[in-house]
Amino acid sequence: MPRLLTLLLFSLSSFLGADVVTLAATNLSVGYYSKTCPDAELVVRGAIQAAMAREPRSGASVMRLQFHDCFVNGCDASVLLDATPNMPGEKQALSNINSLRSFEVIDEVKAALERKCPGVVSCADIIVMAARDAVVLSGGPEWDVRLGREDSLTASQEDSNDIMPSPRANATSLLSLFSQFNLTPVDLVALSGSHSIGRGRCFSIVFRLYNQSGTGRPDPNMDPEYREKLDELCPIGGDGNVTGGLDATPTVFDNQYFKDLVQLRGFLNSDQTLYSGCERTKRVVEKFSKDQGAFFRAFVDGMIRMGELQSERRGEIRRNCRVVNAALSEF
Ligand code: HEM
Ligand SMILES: *[C@@H]1O[C@H](CO)[C@@H](O)[C@H](O)[C@H]1NC(C)=O
Ligand SMILES: *[C@@H]1O[C@H](CO)[C@@H](O)[C@H](O)[C@H]1NC(C)=O
Ligand SMILES: *[C@@H]1O[C@H](CO)[C@@H](O)[C@H](O)[C@H]1NC(C)=O
Ligand SMILES: *[C@@H]1O[C@H](CO)[C@@H](O)[C@H](O)[C@H]1NC(C)=O
Repeated sequence: MPRLLTLLLFSLSSFLGADVVTLAATNLSVGYYSKTCPDAELVVRGAIQAAMAREPRSGASVMRLQFHDCFVNGCDASVLLDATPNMPGEKQALSNINSLRSFEVIDEVKAALERKCPGVVSCADIIVMAARDAVVLSGGPEWDVRLGREDSLTASQEDSNDIMPSPRANATSLLSLFSQFNLTPVDLVALSGSHSIGRGRCFSIVFRLYNQSGTGRPDPNMDPEYREKLDELCPIGGDGNVTGGLDATPTVFDNQYFKDLVQLRGFLNSDQTLYSGCERTKRVVEKFSKDQGAFFRAFVDGMIRMGELQSERRGEIRRNCRVVNAALSEF
């Protein structure tokens, strides 16, 4: 076991360069706030429900935060820190700029929790609770979240740039990325099923509509009718910020995403490649397209294990998710 851990450490540190993840700095547990802030989970659920009533897409947007937080030096709310003159923020990293959104929803949750139990609930835990709630409120599975994370004192735009995958990614590179975090091919496919809700920009797909892998041709793995629709949505030279649904039912958390992939109607290259670019993941996509229960179980398992990623650095409970406490007390 120690040997395995060392190996893991080696592969992770060589890959990440910066910080080792999966070694827990704190022990997570279900019901972590039951004594210190008994209503914490209710408060989060209420705030996410209100946000989604205002804007249904905000559920998907807060759920995505868990992925972009946890993969970069662990689940420590580093993604929420605003840039400072000395520290470039992760919000401006390649995969996040003009894309990651609904930070104000997390601010609302935090404000409500600070009113109830000041200084108790971490921003990192808020992301994990909010992600779970967004899935539940979109019709997906319910699960118990393990809590007790601390918030980081820094962010790393560079690490985010190095780690977060591109929408152009193929299955081989995604499998390799996920395995660095001890996540399996089934985890990759199940967690990609998060794209059952939410939207993506034309910016993320124009290459595959008009110039896949520099061929000057579209991605051949696209249903022609679907491609025509996307061509219309995203014409050459059009507005890269226009968005389309990531699956045919972008406000409902279901297995439609996998049914779409089987019909070559995946939005992102990184989605379609799971069916069209790899036999191993193709079998999993086929299974989930026919068995929503199996997808839900694997998704919950993947979210819990992605939520365990932690750096070994200790942190704090931020009072404002956008800034470290030391910066607050300067005023
Ligand atoms: C497997 C590798 C993944 C890649 C390459 C990827 C890439 C992307 C891209 C390119 C977008 C659209 C961004 C834009 O056009 O502005 C997106 C949206 C989204 N991603 Fe992923 N993603 C991956 C995995 C995940 C995972 C693991 C989760 C969560 C568990 C997730 C959750 C989401 C959600 C919910 C949205 C929609 C957000 C919204 O509507 O605001 N993604 N992803
Ligand atoms: C976590 O729990 C383990 C086993 O119960 C214990 O040995 C360890 O000291 C705990 N770590 C922290 C940071 O509390
Ligand atoms: C997948 O992507 C990686 C990284 O971009 C590239 O080096 C590799 O050649 C690609 N593999 C396939 C099978 O296209
Ligand atoms: C397509 O991509 C290739 C390689 O990235 C590039 O050299 C070429 O100019 C592109 N073609 C068009 C029409 O954009
Ligand atoms: C999208 O909008 C942002 C902010 O208005 C702008 O800076 C950016 O260039 C736009 N991106 C694309 C791809 O058009």
